[in-house]
Amino acid sequence: MRIALTSDLHAGFTEKTGSIHEIFFNKLNEEDWDILIIAGDLGSTKIAHVKSISKRIQRLINKPVLVVRGNHDLWDKSKYNVRETLKLTEQIFKDNGIHLLSNNPFKLNNLHILGWDGWYQHLYPPTRDEDYIAPYTNGKLTFRFLQEEAERTFQKILDKTKEIRTIDNQKIICVTHMPCFYHPTVYGDHSANQRYINYLEGFCDILCFGHTHVQVDDTQFGIRILNAGSDYDEPAYTIFNIQEDQNEKT
Ligand SMILES: [Fe+2]
Ligand SMILES: [Fe+2]
Repeated sequence: MRIALTSDLHAGFTEKTGSIHEIFFNKLNEEDWDILIIAGDLGSTKIAHVKSISKRIQRLINKPVLVVRGNHDLWDKSKYNVRETLKLTEQIFKDNGIHLLSNNPFKLNNLHILGWDGWYQHLYPPTRDEDYIAPYTNGKLTFRFLQEEAERTFQKILDKTKEIRTIDNQKIICVTHMPCFYHPTVYGDHSANQRYINYLEGFCDILCFGHTHVQVDDTQFGIRILNAGSDYDEPAYTIFNIQEDQNEKT
């Protein structure tokens, strides 16, 4: 099984971004892969950006596309509060045949791909989320709400991985937007939410992430960690193999 990984495409960033993505997806289509993972930040500052890239993906890609939301995919202060933004993006992905991992793990034979939008911790790393995420104040502070969403989804994923680990020969890929480990040289201020680190040992086989826009292929906690290093208007992908079942060579 060959997996293509990208992230941080940031549709709507400049007037050239659309045509850059057109070329990018066409180039990706020339490669040999089975599933595409996009580790968040599909948009820039508006839900309309998430919608436009989702439509482009539906038009150009005819294999499974799995996503998690990045912090920018919650950015839109024009019309919505963040609770509505979460619902709208969910609907956009559904309408365009894109699989939102934080709602449903993806399973193919013995391969499980799980994901969550979490690791929200808006004060650290220092993002501009507070300027761009519209508040949800109906009884809850916006970032408290997001943190609770992240915790809830993470617990769900944690329970699921424990369940999968009781069966032999299962492979787990986890996808998140922000990195969830600390490495000041490589990730600098973008290391996020260290409270999760304790869970990482044996948590999955491969962990895919985005957000830092820096290419990574490393091993920590016995887990291969990958970031395609995609950047604003300089999209990048990486393709990796995972043994899908015990008889298949990688
Ligand atoms: Fe990004
Ligand atoms: Fe990000």
